[in-house]
Amino acid sequence: MPLVNTKEMFEKAYKGGYAIGAFNVNNMEIVQGITEACNELNAPVILQVSSGARKYANHTYLLKLVEAAIHETNIPIALHLDHGDSFELCKSCIDGGFTSVMIDGSHYDYEDNVAISKKVAEYAHAHGITVEAELGRLAGVEDDVNVSESDSSYTNPAQVQDFVERTGVDSLAIAIGTSHGAYKFKPGQKPQLRFDILEEVEKRLPGFPIVLHGASSVIPKFVQMINNYGGTMPDAIGIPETMLRQASEMAVCKINIDSDLRLAMTATIRKHFAENPSHFDPRQYLSPARAAIKDMVKHKIENVLGCADKA
Ligand code: G3H
Ligand code: 13P
Ligand code: ZN
Repeated sequence: MPLVNTKEMFEKAYKGGYAIGAFNVNNMEIVQGITEACNELNAPVILQVSSGARKYANHTYLLKLVEAAIHETNIPIALHLDHGDSFELCKSCIDGGFTSVMIDGSHYDYEDNVAISKKVAEYAHAHGITVEAELGRLAGVEDDVNVSESDSSYTNPAQVQDFVERTGVDSLAIAIGTSHGAYKFKPGQKPQLRFDILEEVEKRLPGFPIVLHGASSVIPKFVQMINNYGGTMPDAIGIPETMLRQASEMAVCKINIDSDLRLAMTATIRKHFAENPSHFDPRQYLSPARAAIKDMVKHKIENVLGCADKA
């Protein structure tokens, strides 16, 4: 099966009340762990590449790893640019074989966000590529951009219809209280998402796919392992899985997960070295790290996304 765009995936996900996992990829073991899990559970998947990942691993290496996953599996896979910050970056990914791009104009004012999102959508659609845009601003750290809590803002539902009509984008990321990274809520703070905003957006855009960024659960088992084996992440807190499941039964068709991959990998490697201090062959510690990613992705498919057997 060739790489696909997200159109059919999202249509089915919206109707079926589930979401597609969008996992960030940076190297071979991450691509393998995710796609082996999805293949075994017959789940469609989005593999996404940030500009930081593209700088780290190189566009062609990542494209070829994902093409290898296509060859080795029998599921629909979309290759998506995560947080594209310019028309030129989106164009380069479209021209270079990606099947979906995000143009993140959420840092611009409304009219500039409309203008850049529309420009990307026109170019992408002429090439059969789907486009995600963002309205509202998430807190947290992504690449070199650190958005403080005071600079973050919830999506204004009154703007979504105008934005989607004028830009022609295929999906919309909204801010309802999720945030990037491993520190989403303060210790003692009750995790909360603005489901009222999601409901209002859903009413104004019936049938339209919504995206949740910053949607890692920051799985406590891995945080504990990191802390037990020499790491210091005592206050890491994520989005409760029940809330993400609820969102995926609503208009949310794409759930972005990166921090949980990082935590699974790092926790497993820390434990491995604590128990095997003499090891120095990378295959010895990357094999269990890849297996941990695979188990974690299976857990997400079954408990959060609901997309098993939807390939
Ligand atoms: O939203 C950001 C993703 O977690 C990607 O992070 O820009 O450090 O690769 P990165
Ligand atoms: P997390 O940091 O919650 O995994 O979010 C990842 C993300 O939104 C990638 O775009
Ligand atoms: Zn994001």
